[in-house]
Amino acid sequence: MTDDLSALISETEAALAASTDLRTWDAVRVAVMGKNGSLTNKLKELGKVAPEERRTRGAALNVVKDAITAAIEARRAALDAAALDARLAAERMDVTLPPRPVVNGLIHPISRTMEEMAAIFGAMGFAIAEGPDVEDDWRNFGALNIPAHHSAREDMDTFYVPALEAGGRRRVMRTHTSPVQVRTMIAQEPPIRVIVPGRTYRADHDATHSPMFHQVEGLAIDRGLTLGHLKGCLIDFLRIFFGISNLPVRFRSSYFPFTEPSMEVDIGWNRKTGELGGGGDWLEILGSGMVHPKVLANCGIDAREWQGFAFGMGIERVTMLKHGIPDLRPFYESDIRWLRHYGFNPLAAAMLHEGV
Ligand code: DAH
Repeated sequence: MTDDLSALISETEAALAASTDLRTWDAVRVAVMGKNGSLTNKLKELGKVAPEERRTRGAALNVVKDAITAAIEARRAALDAAALDARLAAERMDVTLPPRPVVNGLIHPISRTMEEMAAIFGAMGFAIAEGPDVEDDWRNFGALNIPAHHSAREDMDTFYVPALEAGGRRRVMRTHTSPVQVRTMIAQEPPIRVIVPGRTYRADHDATHSPMFHQVEGLAIDRGLTLGHLKGCLIDFLRIFFGISNLPVRFRSSYFPFTEPSMEVDIGWNRKTGELGGGGDWLEILGSGMVHPKVLANCGIDAREWQGFAFGMGIERVTMLKHGIPDLRPFYESDIRWLRHYGFNPLAAAMLHEGV
């Protein structure tokens, strides 16, 4: 091989070795093999070579061309491999890193209270019952021994739903969860043990009243149920719910049309500090009583065989007391800052105290 061809090979190899990326590699390729490349020009000049030398020169040029082509391809492959290695190194993931904290949604305090009530009463054998928000006035009032023109209907600031009046029964937004007592007694054979968490409505709006709020109702029907069962059940519930094992609980004689006798239930607290438990003051917390025989009869239950007790309380109220939430209105404002402050981690198990 002539000197010029050996030189071309070594120069090309050196230039390829010096190329560090596809751009410089391509510049070498074009400089040698391109239209005006050094090797291309030598091939073009073959025609001018004397005929007796042309064969050897041609054969030599072909060898050179093969060698250079192979060198260019080899360099390209090496550069591609290096680029892939660099990319893999740059995009490498450390799978041992702990994940970044994910912001979870939080459980609304109302939902949390309902879950806790379901857990506490569930452990006492109560199932959950539900009914519609739009009721007829018979289930909301009449069947519960609240006759038409009774003051309780006005006291409750009822929302009537005129468009839905049907079959002679006026439709109302239920003013309490008590109509679900009626639905349950009509639908099920006793013995019955249910709680009814749900929405209720009254035309009332100020700092401590919302036109939509929540109640939980309780109903137990069985043979031989007494006031003692009612008291035991509610004392246990209140002490477990508020997490105060010696919470003072007082039963105060009262009146509800659907129970006889009726009792309001107070818990002990300190009026000055707002602390629950001791302190010597009393705070009304719920209504209760033995189911009125007329209500049992209205629902097709024989009051000589079956007795029952019932109770009802406001969910917002007990939630505010339990967690020290001062204002009712933010419950329904979906303000993320309020929810972050008062919401509950959905992955934390509902807290149950000893005694359940
Ligand atoms: N329904 C009553 C109210 O909304 C609460 C209530 C009182 C429910 C006594 C009861 C009960 O089941 O026995 O004010």
